[in-house]
Amino acid sequence: MKELQVDLKDRSYPIYIGADLLKQGPLLKRHVQSQQVVVLTNDTIAPLYLSVVQQSLPDCHMEVVVIPDGEQYKTLEYVGQVFDRLLAKKFSRNATLIALGGGVIGDMGGFAAACYQRGIAFIQIPTTLLAQVDSSVGGKTGVNHPLGKNMIGAFYQPKCVIADTRVLRTLEDRQLSAGIAEVIKYGLIRDLPFFEWLEANMSQLLARNDDALSFAIERSCRNKAEVVAEDEFESGVRATLNLGHTFGHAIETGMGYGRYLHGEAVAIGTCFAADLSHRLGYLNEEEVVRIVAIFKAAALPVEPPQEMTSDRYLDLMSVDKKNIDGNIRVILLKALGKATLPVNVDLSMLRETLENYAG
Ligand code: NAD
Ligand code: GLY
Repeated sequence: MKELQVDLKDRSYPIYIGADLLKQGPLLKRHVQSQQVVVLTNDTIAPLYLSVVQQSLPDCHMEVVVIPDGEQYKTLEYVGQVFDRLLAKKFSRNATLIALGGGVIGDMGGFAAACYQRGIAFIQIPTTLLAQVDSSVGGKTGVNHPLGKNMIGAFYQPKCVIADTRVLRTLEDRQLSAGIAEVIKYGLIRDLPFFEWLEANMSQLLARNDDALSFAIERSCRNKAEVVAEDEFESGVRATLNLGHTFGHAIETGMGYGRYLHGEAVAIGTCFAADLSHRLGYLNEEEVVRIVAIFKAAALPVEPPQEMTSDRYLDLMSVDKKNIDGNIRVILLKALGKATLPVNVDLSMLRETLENYAG
């Protein structure tokens, strides 16, 4: 088992990464300091992994909230189901919430934990690659709104993250690739040697080679932990983790939540960002080709949906947490392995990029 630390002073916490960690009951138990425990999960994950979590905490009063599976259920309404249960069962402020699932469950669970009685303990058990390398670490929690992705939320750190690499065996190929999109992101924004490793080892990742997956998860979490420790509340460098996301979130919202997986939208969005970085003279053509090629190698889409016009992108991108006074700001690449901070975009150049792809 590998252990990394997210260094946030009195709110620091460990990330455990390894095979079969869910079967190590004492590991979870060690971080649960209450009798009352609520598990939030969905109807795909519950039949697979709920019982092993229940077995780890045999003496607790455990409530389980199972919501339907899908990005379209990442809403205030479904977070409300957690509050309904906690109140109905008279859960106290020292209760613990365990989020068992992918990024949807982790973001919703963290938000519910942040809000219930102004904050209860919470533990992340991420079960997708995307959640293990990104969403479970760093304390961004929240839900979608019909007018904007992740627009309602809170920063709220978990007590620990338990990433069991074995659970990735049941993940669909498409979901594995979606997770790889966020892995590639770390290479692009701040870790050129990792990007080069990914270029050389993509087939190993897609084949779910244990060593390759463990290495990629650990390296990604290390990158994320460093960024979050430096800038927990995103006043600077943390925004670089949003490479491709301004375009990607527009695709997710514009196409209807769930049509494009988050990682797929990020892959396409990063190709937009690469194109714009090239137009601004930051990246050369060969570098743009390498970026598009690595997403293709990960079996991710690189072409935007035909249905979205430039005007639609601009409308949706004007609702983004990086924007200031309504001006669209995006993360670009100065070079492979080096991201910019949010850049105010010249609208005519942004339009060129959008029209180059979207029409
Ligand atoms: P997801 O949570 O929808 O999970 C993907 C699918 O895999 C679901 O159908 C799920 O039920 C299924 N699944 C999960 N674990 C499984 C397993 N072990 N075996 C079989 N099936 C399994 O999607 P995701 O890609 O994990 O997360 C995407 C979400 O994460 C988005 O809402 C995105 O906004 C959010 N996100 C948040 C952050 C953050 O910092 N908080 C970062 C990146 C993404
Ligand atoms: N996924 C972006 C962040 O955690 O900041």
